[in-house]
Amino acid sequence: MTTVIDGKRVAASVIDAVKTATAALERDTGTKTGLAVVIVGDDPASHTYVSSKSRMAKECGFNSIQHTLPAETTQDELARLVASLNEDAAIHGILVQLPLPKHLNAEAIIQSIRPDKDVDGLNVVNAGKLATGDLDTGLISCTPAGAMLLVRRMHGEDLSGLTAVVIGRSNLFGKPMAQLLIHANATVTTAHSRTKDLAAVARGADILVAAVGRPEMVKADWIKPGATVIDVGINRIAAPDKGEGKTRLVGDVAFTEAAEVAAVITPVPGGVGPMTIAMLMANTSIAAHRAAGKPAPKF
Ligand code: GUN
Repeated sequence: MTTVIDGKRVAASVIDAVKTATAALERDTGTKTGLAVVIVGDDPASHTYVSSKSRMAKECGFNSIQHTLPAETTQDELARLVASLNEDAAIHGILVQLPLPKHLNAEAIIQSIRPDKDVDGLNVVNAGKLATGDLDTGLISCTPAGAMLLVRRMHGEDLSGLTAVVIGRSNLFGKPMAQLLIHANATVTTAHSRTKDLAAVARGADILVAAVGRPEMVKADWIKPGATVIDVGINRIAAPDKGEGKTRLVGDVAFTEAAEVAAVITPVPGGVGPMTIAMLMANTSIAAHRAAGKPAPKF
């Protein structure tokens, strides 16, 4: 029997722990956890994600601030907003939603976020801590942290002897995911669009993580029988069977056929997706505890 991981249920357990920690922090120190989410421009998918993040922050008991800026915002204006949030003692986490409009230099903005408030884990200080094996004092990018939590729920903390293949090499996901798997003692390959015979490489994986952004690219014959498959893709495709103009969300894995081969698999939607928001709340709670001089909760 294939196990289909219920990401919504695991995410809900993380959110419950965040709510408890947030209430206790406020009771014990008077610190109200603050998260600022910044969005620039009109990308509809980004607005949907940001609304969910702001709503969940409120549900966790945070002071949730959303800055919605027009597409014409200049580099200077955005830099000044980030600088003011860096200085604001009521704000413990800052998230600038990506992608930014093309005329803006996203990397400069991301690197200007104070590392202790960088709840996306994208500042070089946080990326460097993860790369050097310090998982205790930095902040880890939310989607890999969430995907790793699902892996840990299935396989435990120690992946010794297991091979993992991560398809994708982005700073936001592929690289940090590979680091987390290495830290847990897996033998890790990072594959990508230039990898020769990707299917054969993928077939070697006990744990296969797909983050390529191509709908249903990973087929059943890419999967080792009995593998754990973590699908990080969120792709909107046409669904004429649902009616004219209708769409549906699919992952990077052809779920139905892959589920016949894998032992464990995450669905899309309802797998890794809900974990990303949950880990953003977890990171914000960790940042607020550290700012208040309290031991941070572990997730
Ligand atoms: N856009 C898509 N995913 C993410 C994310 O995890 N963080 C930010 N800041 N933007 C995103």
